[in-house]
Amino acid sequence: MLWLVWVNYDIIYGMKILAIESSCDETAAAVVENGTRILSNVVVSQVDIFAAYGGVIPEVAARSHLETILPVVHKAMDDAGLTKEEIDAIAVTHTPGLLGSLLIGTLTARMLAILWGKPLYAVHHLKSHIYANWLDTDRPEFPLVALVVSGGHTQIIYMQGHNQFEIIGTTRDDAVGECFDKVAKILGLPYPGGPAIEKLALSSSEGALQAWGREVKYPLPIPKVEGLDFSFSGLKTAVLRAVQKELGVPINTPSYELAGMMTEQQKADFAASFLETAVKILVEKTRQAVDEHPEAKAVVLAGGVSASEPLRQAMKREFGAWTGLPEEMKQVSLPVFVPERKYTGDNAAMVGAAAFFEIEAGAQPTDPYTLNIAPRTAISAE
Ligand code: KG4
Ligand code: ZN
Repeated sequence: MLWLVWVNYDIIYGMKILAIESSCDETAAAVVENGTRILSNVVVSQVDIFAAYGGVIPEVAARSHLETILPVVHKAMDDAGLTKEEIDAIAVTHTPGLLGSLLIGTLTARMLAILWGKPLYAVHHLKSHIYANWLDTDRPEFPLVALVVSGGHTQIIYMQGHNQFEIIGTTRDDAVGECFDKVAKILGLPYPGGPAIEKLALSSSEGALQAWGREVKYPLPIPKVEGLDFSFSGLKTAVLRAVQKELGVPINTPSYELAGMMTEQQKADFAASFLETAVKILVEKTRQAVDEHPEAKAVVLAGGVSASEPLRQAMKREFGAWTGLPEEMKQVSLPVFVPERKYTGDNAAMVGAAAFFEIEAGAQPTDPYTLNIAPRTAISAE
């Protein structure tokens, strides 16, 4: 028995995975060793293209992936200083995401797997966001509660071990990242909305970071949703109505006209009020999830919105995960894991991490001649 464990460890020791990610508007490739050590990580973002449009245009994203994917893969291999012979496996995001975008990454990975004769592993995008927490840092212990917050998803996922995902809460309408992006549009801010809202909120009369937990200038309703589910479409509309009310304009005033009527101070105060409300909703639901799973040993944040400093701070405060806590307090606190900022948005290093732990948990390679993409698949249905 001991011998078997040793052999298994030996097989996977030093496993180098070339990973590819193209599910939305980032073209990315990375080489990751043993799911944790990054040998290279290349991300070409299309945000500059889409900032002007206020959102991603799928056809433009797919075309841009097509132009960049091979140079990005080349650079990832060059940066890692490896030849194709030294790569043990290829991994790619195949679901969920934009159809045309997913196709480019998946076809590239299929082609390389066939040409290089490497096993190919298909990875779920949300799974990879969670595994960003295994890159380069201390690793969370199981069981854990993960809050996955991105432009397309808002979910609470319970994990009892590697590659075991149970969705315990999900949004019934918009994702929280989508809500940040839509509120940003109302305030005349560029895409992606999250970072722009955070920056502006800091200049509000309250100062979002300092004002955490205090009264906000424009109170917004917290949606009442049963259990661990979320709803964010009402919050976006609440911001719209509050802006119209503040400006004294009728509710049929087109939203794109509002930013031009607001002062910089009003915009900053709305950004701060929205940010604090969104953070409050996320923290409260995560607290509820942890209360329902008292055996959880960690809280894990994942996805683009986990770059939010107010969210990261609020979570640490809620679960008492501050360094320097007195010993007796540490017993009731729960460690909160957040990915390094460079791994919160879409990247391929997290895909390499997810694939490694999937392989370790016994996942089999997929057929490079038939691997298909799927714009929507739940993480637990994988
Ligand atoms: O995970 P991600 O890069 O792409 C998807 O898988 O969707 O997430 C993108 C989302 C966008 O909605 C963006 O506005 C949001 O993450 N985001 C943020 C911040 N940085 C990015 N939201 C709040 N605060 C931030 N600092
Ligand atoms: Zn993502």
